[in-house]
Amino acid sequence: MKIGLLQETHPGERRVALVPAQVKQLVKAGHEVLLQSGAGERSGYLDEHYREAGAEVIAERSAVLEQLEALFAVRFAAASRGETVESDIAALPRGALVLGFLEPYDPQAPVFGALAERGVSAVALELLPRITRAQSMDALSATANLAGYRAAVLAAERLPRVFPMMMTAAGTIIPAQVFVLGAGVAGLQAIATAGRLGAVVSAYDVRSAVREQVLSLGAKFVEIEVPDAGADDEAGKREGAGAGAAAAGGKSAAEAAGGYAKEMDEAFYRAQREKLTSVIAESDAVITTAAVPGRSAPRLVTEEMVAGMKPGSVLIDLAAERGGNCELTRAGETVEHHGVQILGPLNIASSLAYTASRLYSKNITALFEALLGEDGRPELQKDDEIVAACTVLRDGELLYGGMRDE
Ligand code: NAI
Repeated sequence: MKIGLLQETHPGERRVALVPAQVKQLVKAGHEVLLQSGAGERSGYLDEHYREAGAEVIAERSAVLEQLEALFAVRFAAASRGETVESDIAALPRGALVLGFLEPYDPQAPVFGALAERGVSAVALELLPRITRAQSMDALSATANLAGYRAAVLAAERLPRVFPMMMTAAGTIIPAQVFVLGAGVAGLQAIATAGRLGAVVSAYDVRSAVREQVLSLGAKFVEIEVPDAGADDEAGKREGAGAGAAAAGGKSAAEAAGGYAKEMDEAFYRAQREKLTSVIAESDAVITTAAVPGRSAPRLVTEEMVAGMKPGSVLIDLAAERGGNCELTRAGETVEHHGVQILGPLNIASSLAYTASRLYSKNITALFEALLGEDGRPELQKDDEIVAACTVLRDGELLYGGMRDE
């Protein structure tokens, strides 16, 4: 297969979809890699590194597009921003495969209509199921892991006090208190990093499985009993005994399949906010990562709760891109309220482009290999859980129906 790599066009995007190590691996397996000159530069990988790995470096973007059979992209088109990258799509050969982050949650977005017209196949990395076999392909988790790390470092940098305990000649400094709200992939890495920097860390999540993971990182799990108010389907109501079931080791009503949370109703979130107020007021740094796949982020931190924090405290809202967990968050900006800084960083992975590209390159290569049939070409009909979950378009036919409630 001829695999094309283009310079990413999404504003501020520094990552590249394949780094030279995987180019080498793919070339060895009999594929060809065509690179638009300079595509890896912003993440620290130069044309010469790609040439050494066996890629053909081509100056013209259009020449890469015309020849490729599979396009590996980081962010091919941001559907949520109405981008359709029309000229790229128009230049794609019929029957090509597009692989990358495609923002597929609304399959009616114009980008999918345009891709369907070209008769191409599109496979979205966002839709990978969180199953053991897909771990090496899980680009969302790899990205969230880096975001969690960066959130803890950002908090340490912005806070006007140090994270660790220090015994100095001028007296003993007590460690900072960090609270992590939402302990999925990003949250767990934020807990681990803040702990390594010496803070005293506590965390909370609605999913019961998370409690043990938080404890194993040396952090405290904040127990809050939330009434079984918000299960938004009958199955949820039967299964759970409230989010507080986490404490008892049961499965909470807020859990969906695949290691994700389920969307709950406003009464549930209101009860949560009440319980969280005192925990947040006592924290020097709060890192919020609560997310429900395909939905806007649950609003868990109110203006009033921020006003209750000590001046100089910081809140890093990783959910900024999806509306934020804090009602004061503004995506991509820092807001100050009652002396508290609220940061809503976007596309953190791009700011760690060297490492993020290395991980993404492994993820996308592993997924590509899983899509190949015996003849070494993509076989999207495969009766395979991963292929079935990630395929948005097959030869122009829309297969993905959008987010479904579990
Ligand atoms: P995840 O799905 O692994 O974790 C989210 C966690 O939030 C889950 O453990 C879930 O149970 C928990 N949660 C959901 N509702 C909750 C509630 N009401 N109260 C407490 N916990 C709740 O997601 P992941 O991959 O860790 O991503 C976390 C967030 O970070 C997402 O919003 C994601 O979009 C964002 N992110 C941001 C990046 C950036 O550059 N700003 C990069 C990567 C991720």
